[in-house]
Amino acid sequence: MTRAAAPLPAIPPDIVSAGDYERYAEKMLDPRILAYLAGGAGDEITLRANTQALEALTLIPRVLADVAGGHTRLTLAGEALSHPFILAPVGWQKLFHPQGELASAQASAVMQTPFAVSCMATETIEAVAGQGGPVWFQIYMQPARADTEALVRRAEAAGCRALLVTVDAPIGGIRNRAQRAGFALPPGMVAANLPPETAPPALKSGESAVFDAMMRAAPGWADIAWLTGVTRLPVFVKGILHPDDATRAVDAGAAGVVVSNHGGRVLDGAPAAIAALPAIAARLNGTTPILFDSGVRRGSDAFKAIALGADAVMIGRPYIWALSVAGALGVAHLIRTLREELEITMALMGCRTLADIRQSDVRRP
Ligand code: FNR
Repeated sequence: MTRAAAPLPAIPPDIVSAGDYERYAEKMLDPRILAYLAGGAGDEITLRANTQALEALTLIPRVLADVAGGHTRLTLAGEALSHPFILAPVGWQKLFHPQGELASAQASAVMQTPFAVSCMATETIEAVAGQGGPVWFQIYMQPARADTEALVRRAEAAGCRALLVTVDAPIGGIRNRAQRAGFALPPGMVAANLPPETAPPALKSGESAVFDAMMRAAPGWADIAWLTGVTRLPVFVKGILHPDDATRAVDAGAAGVVVSNHGGRVLDGAPAAIAALPAIAARLNGTTPILFDSGVRRGSDAFKAIALGADAVMIGRPYIWALSVAGALGVAHLIRTLREELEITMALMGCRTLADIRQSDVRRP
């Protein structure tokens, strides 16, 4: 696969928002890679709902408020952060830029933004952590606990500050858009942190490829409890949409949950992630940190998610657009842009700090 255009050495002056990076990335990436990045599961009902539901929320401005000395600082799982944006785990980043995860890690170091490195990363955890930024590691539970534990130990030794265990994608969703475009991983693109894949056992006649093969080694709640017990790092459970599952995650020892539908990439028909957030926030009632992702495209989206109960947001596709367009520089610029958008939104909403952001600031349609 070849790119239509090489990454840019500087940020063009007409890139001032995440949406601008998307428009540039659409012109610069191979159409098959773009289909893999942009696509959602199935007919993309959930993918569309994520952004539409955020856009449909309105903000009632609060005028003449004194916001001098305001800031976007917070403490999350014991860590002081200067703003509530985190780079979500996105696999195979060398598809999008020759430096792959190293470029995202450099931006994370410059902006002091946590970078959650995907289990499907094309660079090693050690090399990513070596860039000096705050690094988290995302885990998919491996069929053998010893393999999962080896990943945990490597993440700990590399200095990762937290683990995310992604539970909403035990199998991939229906990837219509990527399939239609003929996307396949190019030869040589390997998951740098995982043992080589072994071929699945052949199915017997009448067996289901889903239930008898892919889902046979899928993890359960006992595995999450095992994981939280085997590490001293805080573990966030990523991919929660039901309040009962949020409770189960906390009971299994999670330090926090990520309300997410994986950017609409797994179960088509799942609700917009923002629609699931208030009930989960009500259930956890401030006892456990809540991260939010799926559809965040601007600082005001982060404001809306925080108003509805999130402590911080993760961004997925937007930083990959920026990575594709201008590497580390693009990702750092995108984070700065989102942070400034959030600050402006807070100022216009009369909020000095993230703690001032109230549920009543947001009106649902
Ligand atoms: C992802 N996501 C993801 N999540 C995860 O836990 N591990 C992974 O390896 C990946 N890989 C991945 C690849 C690509 C191309 C995309 C777009 C997404 C999901 C990701 O962490 C996040 O949940 C969503 O991207 C958030 O939605 P938005 O911001 O893309 O709308």
